[in-house]
Amino acid sequence: MSKMTIRDVDLTGKRVMIRVDFNVPQDENGQIREDTRIRAALPTIRLALAQGAKVILVSHLGRPKGTPDAKYSLKPVQERLAMLLGQPVRLAPDCVGEATAAMVRAMRPGDVLMLENVRFHAAEEKNLPEFARQLAELADVAVNDAFGTAHRAHASNAGIGQFVQPMVAGLLLADEIAYFDKSVRNPERPFAAILGGSKVSSKIGVIEALTAKVDALLIGGGMAFTFLAAMGKPVGSSLVEKGMLDTARQAIAAAQQRGVQLLLPLDVVAALQMDPASPIKTLFLDESIPEHWMGFDIGPVTVQRYIQALKGMKTILWNGPMGVFEMEPFAQGTLQLAQAVADSHALSVVGGGDTDAAVRQAGVAERISFISTGGGAFLELLEKGSLPGIEALTAR
Ligand code: 3PG
Repeated sequence: MSKMTIRDVDLTGKRVMIRVDFNVPQDENGQIREDTRIRAALPTIRLALAQGAKVILVSHLGRPKGTPDAKYSLKPVQERLAMLLGQPVRLAPDCVGEATAAMVRAMRPGDVLMLENVRFHAAEEKNLPEFARQLAELADVAVNDAFGTAHRAHASNAGIGQFVQPMVAGLLLADEIAYFDKSVRNPERPFAAILGGSKVSSKIGVIEALTAKVDALLIGGGMAFTFLAAMGKPVGSSLVEKGMLDTARQAIAAAQQRGVQLLLPLDVVAALQMDPASPIKTLFLDESIPEHWMGFDIGPVTVQRYIQALKGMKTILWNGPMGVFEMEPFAQGTLQLAQAVADSHALSVVGGGDTDAAVRQAGVAERISFISTGGGAFLELLEKGSLPGIEALTAR
């Protein structure tokens, strides 16, 4: 890796500020629904503590409007982290200011202090140097372990590098970069990408970038219907982005030109409504999908075709479900593909919140080589090849 990581620095007795992404989903009462991102940061925090660092954690939670808002307090995260770490974690009332500075001065090696939501300051998202400098004053070493936020050029994950050096990758960020390198940058071939989700428009950059890299591209989810419609297939009332038909045609042509095997559904599970109780049919795309019927999953023939296509792949990258897998009648495509990816001998990398949830629902998460903690960051890294939060790290 061309950037420094936490393993390259001696942290003994130092004030180590770790930018984490503790932007976890909460229910209406503020209870944490899912704590994967907190757990994912534990190895870095533990490594710093084992070296006798004073650990200062910085995160955002939600999208407060640049001003304190109790709804977005990191208090529930502080409590969960203390439980997971098995040691006290203090919460500072703010991320900058005298009260917080005093709490940092009082820290001893092995202490953990979490700063309150960094987005309570509008200067964070504006990446204002003065704010980055104030954060930096609290630290001797900056660590970025917030992969989920690495596509944002904000003060706490990018600007701060101007004022405190070194700024190094934490173990999670280093892993995310390493798996991106092993899959997309230097894949062992053949290399297949599976892309799903509802819209072509939100993933066209990723489709274009991957077409230049993969040997096979398997498309499912709602976005498949825009491709199928672009090829003149009758897709009934399935989701089609009319404004993206030309773009889809260009993507198909680009794949053909590059010799990429582009696979689209042959059959779909269709219904009159996105409702598990509505009548359901499996329909072939060669016949026409009747008016008012909509596809909500890839059909069984497509599933087998895709499973066959994955056989022998050495690298598999997956983003986006094949159908509405949250509803039982439309879940099979996604769940069976998850099984196939896990059963393969390929290096498998999965990214995006829905796909992460799908491999967990399929019970195969443990058999995926790497599950990214990034949603938007994962897609942007695929598209652009780097991210502001990675660029800001100190070079080796
Ligand atoms: C995420 O959940 O995608 C990250 O935490 C970034 O959050 P944001 O989209 O509000 O910047």
